[in-house]
Amino acid sequence: MHVVILGANGQLGSLLVRSVPHSVKVSAYTSSVLDISNSASVARVLNKVKPDLVINAAAYTAVDKAETEQDKAFAVNHAGVINLIENTGPQTGIIHVSTDFVFDGNANTPYLPDSPVNPVGIYGASKLKGEQALTALAPDRSWIIRTAWLYAAEGKNFFNTMLHLMGTREQLGVVADQKGTPTSAHTLARVIWMFAEKQPGYGIYHWTDQGEASWFDFACEIQKQGLEASLLDKGIPIKPLSTADYPTPAKRPSYSVLDKSSTRVAIGYQGRPWQEELQEVINIKSEQAASKES
Ligand SMILES: NC(=O)c1ccc[n+]([C@@H]2O[C@H](COP(=O)([O-])OP(=O)(O)OC[C@H]3O[C@@H](n4cnc5c(N)ncnc54)[C@H](OP(=O)(O)O)[C@@H]3O)[C@@H](O)[C@H]2O)c1
Repeated sequence: MHVVILGANGQLGSLLVRSVPHSVKVSAYTSSVLDISNSASVARVLNKVKPDLVINAAAYTAVDKAETEQDKAFAVNHAGVINLIENTGPQTGIIHVSTDFVFDGNANTPYLPDSPVNPVGIYGASKLKGEQALTALAPDRSWIIRTAWLYAAEGKNFFNTMLHLMGTREQLGVVADQKGTPTSAHTLARVIWMFAEKQPGYGIYHWTDQGEASWFDFACEIQKQGLEASLLDKGIPIKPLSTADYPTPAKRPSYSVLDKSSTRVAIGYQGRPWQEELQEVINIKSEQAASKES
């Protein structure tokens, strides 16, 4: 199987590239080589490579900036997906990564893949348009995998930001009234390769780690595990904040826990509690720190 990975420099894309199964031949593209918002750029590469499967980890992901860069967000997250569909043949599968931000967050039980969507910001609206393009134009060859609260040992994400702030500040305030599920991008990359291998029925799926947490809960657990692993020297007080205390340009869903049951059946993998997944990422981070020192 020949697989094209798009967004190969991103948090998830780079982990997909690093975890390619032996049986798979991969061609991976960064935004500088293949710009998905540019139809000619997509055509030039995909018409030549003619992959069996495209994994789209490319996206405009700047949630707050999207409020003022609406055109850019839609060019990548909507028009980019159409470019992908139009420049692949009917035999080419597409695994597309989407987001919990397609929901408004007014629920209080986990969202199912077919729960009503209603994004509250531009980023979510642009990602929803990308999903709708796939559902309308390529329903018989696409899998949409919605995920949430992604982090990894490397890259710009909440986990690394917290470790940095906990190492440099005397105290910290973190939002405690938004609930979701921290999700290891390392594990999501493996889950995506399971989709590629098993090729379950086409449609929309959800994947996050197990359980739920607020950003405050996540920060406290990062500090606890960071101290145990000696990634942090000392603990600092962490204060729970409300969303109103920490205004951001983009509104975020206050509840975005996703129901994963259909994915578990489709790929035969249950996942693990987010705290256990965090431990794995902390271990990777510790190994990286140790190899830098030696
Ligand atoms: N991060 C989260 O918490 C989260 C939560 C839910 C869903 N998701 C979804 O998960 C997927 C992966 O997210 P991530 O965290 O890995 O994001 P990321 O680190 O921001 O990576 C996105 C990648 O897309 C690339 N890209 C941007 N515009 C492009 C274009 N026009 N053509 C080609 N590539 C382009 C970027 O390239 P440059 O580096 O050159 O800009 C970047 O490498 C996305 O679909 C995102 O919507 C993420």
